Amino acid sequence: MKSLAIIGAQWGDEGKGKITDLLGEKADFVVRYQGGNNAGHTIIVGEDKIVLHQLPSGILRQSCTSVIAHGVVFEPVAFLEELAKVEKKVSVSPERLKISLNATVITTYHKILDAAREGASQNKIGTTGKGIGPAYEDKTSRRAVKVQDLLDMNQLKRKLQISMEEKSYLFKEVYKCEVPSIEEEAQKLFELGKKLAPFITDTFGLLDQAFQDNKKVLFEGAQGILLDIDYGSYPYVTSSSTSAAGVFTGAGIPSGVLEEKLGIAKAYTTRVGEGPMPTEITEPIGDEIQKIGHEFGATTGRRRRCGWLDLPSLKYAVKASSLTSLALTKVDVLSGLDELKVCYAYKVDGKTYDCAFPGLDLEKAQPLYKDLSPFKDDFKNESYSRELTDYIELIEKAVSIPVGIVAFGPERSQIHFRKEYFQ
Ligand code: GDP
Ligand code: IMO
Ligand code: MG
Repeated sequence: MKSLAIIGAQWGDEGKGKITDLLGEKADFVVRYQGGNNAGHTIIVGEDKIVLHQLPSGILRQSCTSVIAHGVVFEPVAFLEELAKVEKKVSVSPERLKISLNATVITTYHKILDAAREGASQNKIGTTGKGIGPAYEDKTSRRAVKVQDLLDMNQLKRKLQISMEEKSYLFKEVYKCEVPSIEEEAQKLFELGKKLAPFITDTFGLLDQAFQDNKKVLFEGAQGILLDIDYGSYPYVTSSSTSAAGVFTGAGIPSGVLEEKLGIAKAYTTRVGEGPMPTEITEPIGDEIQKIGHEFGATTGRRRRCGWLDLPSLKYAVKASSLTSLALTKVDVLSGLDELKVCYAYKVDGKTYDCAFPGLDLEKAQPLYKDLSPFKDDFKNESYSRELTDYIELIEKAVSIPVGIVAFGPERSQIHFRKEYFQ
């Protein structure tokens, strides 16, 4: 196997960072291809906790090159701060960190617009406030500043002017907020560009060569399929293609080359921000899961909503990305609970659905639960209790792909591989 994508199969925070860091040990390249610093990917190494937002989660592995491809929305200020933090732990030379010259830049204007909209709206999305949506809007409306523009002051000013044509009106008349002048913003971005210059390159060509040289390439998704702009619970989604489709456009690789699409799913469900969540638990056991699982957002610190495993959504996510196997994470969090349920279908307007689909109104979905026998496992070896084995088999049967990985703690060693990856 030479290429593998790690894709969140729920509403994000499934443990992609941990799995990427582990499989990154065997990879030559680890590539982020969509999203931006809305992502928060946690890696625990001994006593150290590292939360990565824009840097690929292969960055701790000296033998691999980290790539930020053109599908990413790139925030230069936050990036340099993150790099400085990581460099205290591991040295990062421009040889092993590459940023696409064609990635879209998140400017100060995008962040202000994101915050202003969320502040003013009755219909909040509950965004991370990082300017992700406004930056992708500029990309789609063909007025984005690209990373290579940071290296050319004239081009940068011209692009910022284009990007600001309509926004100036919004800031002044609609949201009534102060923003930096184009001159100030251009100066700031140009200075940042000087620091970023050694890392900026044509990552499309780099990856093309990597495939020709038979290198092992790992693609690290951000967010999850249920937050996808097309497949997700619209409008409560992020603004990028978080499904497997995003790998092809966001990193620029031919569609045939992706051999394994590994979906990451928690053994239960969490969500941060607004939007429907059919299996959200309102009883005390929901708080118990939240506490045991330390379910707080890695980027915003917000409390994550917790619920039972939602099979209709998971099954849909598997189909929407043709996932080939699953990593089931945080199984330890459910171990020892007095109760265990799984949602096997929803009722919506009197009809029963065992698989979600784009546009299914999840606000109306009433979960149908199966009560299962709770499990209590210590994960000291790979033979699990009958109850946990049944739980895993039930998931495999519902989604029709194998659970190739079981994770039972945040640390690198707390994992069982039931399938080989990158051999
Ligand atoms: P990501 O965004 O998908 O990378 O996930 P986050 O880092 O936002 O959230 C996952 C959280 O769960 C982090 O705090 C991880 O350290 C932690 N974690 C990952 N896998 C496991 C696991 O199997 N068990 C437990 N208890 N924690 C885990
Ligand atoms: P990782 O990669 C969980 C959610 C936000 C909000 C919606 C839109 O760590 O799994 P945005 O700022 O993207 O416009 O917010 O998406 N969201 C995430 N939820 N994990 C993430 O990333 C997320 N990134 C965005 O909470 O509901
Ligand atoms: Mg996260």
